[in-house]
Amino acid sequence: MDSTDPTIDLRSDTVTRPTPAMRTAIAEAVVGDDVFGDDPTVNEFQRRVASELGKESALFVPSGTMANQLAIAVQTHRGDQVVVESESHIYRYEAGAPAALSGVQLTLLDTVDGELDWSQVEPALNADDPHCAPPSLVCVENTHNRKGGRVADFNSMRELRTHANERGMRVHMDGARLWNAAVASGISMAEWASCADTVSVCFSKGMGAPIGSALVGDAATIAQAHRRRKQWGGGMRQAGLLTAACLHALDHHFQDLRHDHANARILAHGVQRGEWSLVCEPETNIVLFRVLGAATGWVDAVAAQGVHMSTMGVDLVRAVTHRDVSARQCEQAVATINAISPPRGTG
Ligand SMILES: Cc1ncc(COP(=O)(O)O)c(C=O)c1O
Repeated sequence: MDSTDPTIDLRSDTVTRPTPAMRTAIAEAVVGDDVFGDDPTVNEFQRRVASELGKESALFVPSGTMANQLAIAVQTHRGDQVVVESESHIYRYEAGAPAALSGVQLTLLDTVDGELDWSQVEPALNADDPHCAPPSLVCVENTHNRKGGRVADFNSMRELRTHANERGMRVHMDGARLWNAAVASGISMAEWASCADTVSVCFSKGMGAPIGSALVGDAATIAQAHRRRKQWGGGMRQAGLLTAACLHALDHHFQDLRHDHANARILAHGVQRGEWSLVCEPETNIVLFRVLGAATGWVDAVAAQGVHMSTMGVDLVRAVTHRDVSARQCEQAVATINAISPPRGTG
């Protein structure tokens, strides 16, 4: 956010703007036609991301949604059973794409903290019976957006993959904010990625790039995703302009995520209880509050004073920290929120 902008935008970590240094990296990128495989900056990006995540291959895609949906499309057949958590981004916010694009049947499992473990997944798997959709994929999310940026339990994730693979199934991890999980846990990106066959990661969230995600996995799976990306109209030409920004984020922004996590704690601990209660202690950059009365009333009242947040349901408010809000602005946001009385008719 530019320093003259009086608003504090905590709606999402996707609102960041490229820094001058990132804009320079974009301007200076050496590019070619990536549909011909000729863009050196895309190729370097894909090699680098595959290596950071300890997988054979990576594919650059415009969005986290496309990365997740490619993972589903290339690891299932039409009519398969795919197990997902009921609050997952893949189920709630990807416009019905698993059904529309891959024709799969989702089995939704409720959890307290967003994490699927094998003891919950196994009983939900369909039997090998011609009446039933054959299970082929489990999707997990780490960190978990709607559960307040929670970091998964590493051992339980690793076990999930082992058991799923033994059953002939695959695991996809929606790691849009896996960077945050790595920084918060001290567990490397590659270790986290070892818990899944494919992983999607985003550069347009806390990492601060304007556009871009990647899907990583074994070479054969990513080759199929590459073909499917073309089929879906996602072949891009001088895409090195975008991957230059993502590479810059990898080199210069990754470790800064710890500041966002500290700033989330400023919000969580500063907002006085009463009308607002913390849903869970923030582990990364997402703070979830439950409010008395309608969340939209609160969010509108606070926004009128320059602090923008989003609602996640009837009484849930989400505040997300990112590189364009400072610790001082988070303190200012706390003061603004604490000064606002319950909106009329809600409390
Ligand atoms: C957990 C998670 N997965 C996937 C996505 C989708 O990313 P995109 O908006 O780039 O499609 C988001 C977006 O916020 C997300 O929070």
